[in-house]
Amino acid sequence: MFRDLIPEFSLILSPMEAITNKPFRKICKKYGADILVTEFIASDALARDVKDSIIKMNFDKEERPLGIQIFGNNADSLIKAVSIAEKENPDFIDINWGCPVKKVAGKGSGSGIMNDIPKMIELTKAVVDASSVPVTVKTRLGYSEDSKPIVEIAERLQDVGIQAISIHGRTRAQMYKGEADWSLIGEVKNNPRMSIPVFGNGDIDSAEKMIEFKNRYGVDGILIGRATIGNPFIFQECKEILRGETPSIIPIWEKVEICKAHLDGLVELRGEKHAIFEMRKNYSGYFKGLANFKPYRLQLVTSVLYSEIENLLDQILNTYSE
Ligand SMILES: Cc1cc2nc3c(=O)[nH]c(=O)nc-3n(C[C@H](O)[C@H](O)[C@H](O)COP(=O)(O)O)c2cc1C
Repeated sequence: MFRDLIPEFSLILSPMEAITNKPFRKICKKYGADILVTEFIASDALARDVKDSIIKMNFDKEERPLGIQIFGNNADSLIKAVSIAEKENPDFIDINWGCPVKKVAGKGSGSGIMNDIPKMIELTKAVVDASSVPVTVKTRLGYSEDSKPIVEIAERLQDVGIQAISIHGRTRAQMYKGEADWSLIGEVKNNPRMSIPVFGNGDIDSAEKMIEFKNRYGVDGILIGRATIGNPFIFQECKEILRGETPSIIPIWEKVEICKAHLDGLVELRGEKHAIFEMRKNYSGYFKGLANFKPYRLQLVTSVLYSEIENLLDQILNTYSE
């Protein structure tokens, strides 16, 4: 049972393509994330044995409980993807019915499925039936402003056997615009017919907001996405606030140390060139709030040499420790 794997209230690292790779997930775990999920993986690509997808499925034991997230638009490839993913022995399989980007949703995968709810239910059932591990779903409120049937969808998904649902409080049409609306997430949670864990997602950017939304909507867990980029420390702050403590300040040496570990982990996983490029999204997060940081940032995001980046990180440590 999925519920047996998780705490009463869970902090979840929201899956993000090219962000929640193995090195970053392990760092988030160290700082307190209770549940980890891989980046989304195209079921078609998995079935074709695409190398990139195979790397994305890989995880270490210490990451458990961990889910492999898949997306697709037809039963055959989804079922095939389940059988491949299962060989990695994940704790659960998460279906992505939430991605709004054109190349995914435009083909009826991700949140594109939300204008064909019967198909969404049918494909989810096919995955549940094919899987020997628990299946969970991550989705949105609905397809567009005038169609937000998430309360009904959640019931129907539960009826076909999913063991938890994560809801991002936006529609497909909204993409990432506007503010996430948590009121319908609260309605799903308070629906007396729901018995599986209901996780909320959208715009949580501080430990204070996390606890406020936990208390207001009563969800079983909260996913944090963008606010973790270059800021895995948010999980520690959340844990502290949940224990009634004041969140501690992370010293610069720790930020530099973790940033280096992140870079090194990526180098090990994908090689220097890929790692240097992928790390560029993270520096603003790691060093947010440092006075006159702009020149360092510029060098970090333009440098193509590992030794140069290492050197810059040492300089940052020297400049800002005191
Ligand atoms: C760069 C990026 C990549 C994402 N990739 C995925 C993904 O692979 N799978 C998924 O379910 N959601 C993905 N998402 C959506 C996030 O998991 C999350 O639902 C969304 O960002 C809202 O949460 P937040 O406001 O805490 O960021 C992605 C979001 C971003 C910004």
